[in-house]
Amino acid sequence: MIPDPPFALLVELTHRCPLQCPYCSNPLDMERAAGEMTTEEWCGVIRQAAGLGCMQIHFSGGEPTVRPDLEILVAEAAAAGLYTNLITSGVLCDRARLERLAAAGLEHVQLSFQGATAPIADRIAGYAGGHEKKLSFARDVRAAGLPLTANFVVHRQNAHQLDAMIDMAVEMAAERIEIANVQYYGWALKNRAALMPSRDQLNVMIESVSAARERLKGILAIDFVVPDYYARRPKPCMGGWGQRFLNISPSGKVLPCHAAESITTLAFDNVREKPLDDIWLNGPAFRAFRGTDWMPEPCRACDRKEIDWGGCRCQAFAITGDAAQTDPACALSKNHSRLVATALEDAQSGGEDFVYRNFRSAKALPGL
Ligand code: SF4
Ligand code: FES
Repeated sequence: MIPDPPFALLVELTHRCPLQCPYCSNPLDMERAAGEMTTEEWCGVIRQAAGLGCMQIHFSGGEPTVRPDLEILVAEAAAAGLYTNLITSGVLCDRARLERLAAAGLEHVQLSFQGATAPIADRIAGYAGGHEKKLSFARDVRAAGLPLTANFVVHRQNAHQLDAMIDMAVEMAAERIEIANVQYYGWALKNRAALMPSRDQLNVMIESVSAARERLKGILAIDFVVPDYYARRPKPCMGGWGQRFLNISPSGKVLPCHAAESITTLAFDNVREKPLDDIWLNGPAFRAFRGTDWMPEPCRACDRKEIDWGGCRCQAFAITGDAAQTDPACALSKNHSRLVATALEDAQSGGEDFVYRNFRSAKALPGL
């Protein structure tokens, strides 16, 4: 299968971040500052991505505003004709810097929140005072005239705040709110027992979202991602592996998905060594699960195989140790009942303590 050009590029400029969210999608083995690509290397990648046909660039991390060259990279992307989005925790960027980013061509901001009140949000983020800083940053985003999406990751320890999260997004005049249940790979998998919601919590969330969508039509767009473990069919993760998205790690590894490094059986090409278009078209990691030829049964004979593309490869690997299995979130997978049983057990008997995402915890993890 010859793929279309990628629609969007997500660049993880750094893994450095002052927050320590226990569900971070960064790999457990995080990149240190010394391994990060230089400004010139990132600018070269941005030009290559635009040449390849990418339409959008998402500046992410870690915390992308840690990089002092972010304005240069945004300007490079805007000059190359890419739509530019900043995905940030908002705790390190003051109004003057945000205005410089807007002047450089920044077009949209996605701001992450860990809860609706400071005590809960700051505990989850492992960062005292973060919630207040985020609220202030949201005001700066609006003052700079930039569109704002508020991102909330929800789980057992903050699901009861869902209505308050939606109210917050309305108060801060966000255009959109994304309420995403945790996806369990990497750090989140380590913290699954502390994060998994119960089925009752999920049902309450679904009702709240549906009522809010009705109430806030034309005011706030609401995206809601359910927890895979309670789904009957999987999501079309990444819009199909190697079909719509490219991710680049701080050191230049080119990944088909932000969590792809959790699949330890894959090796990834590096944009420091090969051109981006070659990696997109021919890279073994991209070709491994692109299209439908790689699929096992029951996906191979299934009429949804070009709708959900067999679900999520990272989840298949996390649960079965084989990324080429049907996503266990699918009720047709032989591993589905095990997945549901795990969810119910974690939701009922998991503790409240987190393994926070930081270099110290990473070092203490077995195998790293
Ligand atoms: Fe999707 Fe495969 Fe399940 Fe069919 S069997 S719904 S293609 S994951
Ligand atoms: Fe990697 Fe789904 S998160 S394919």
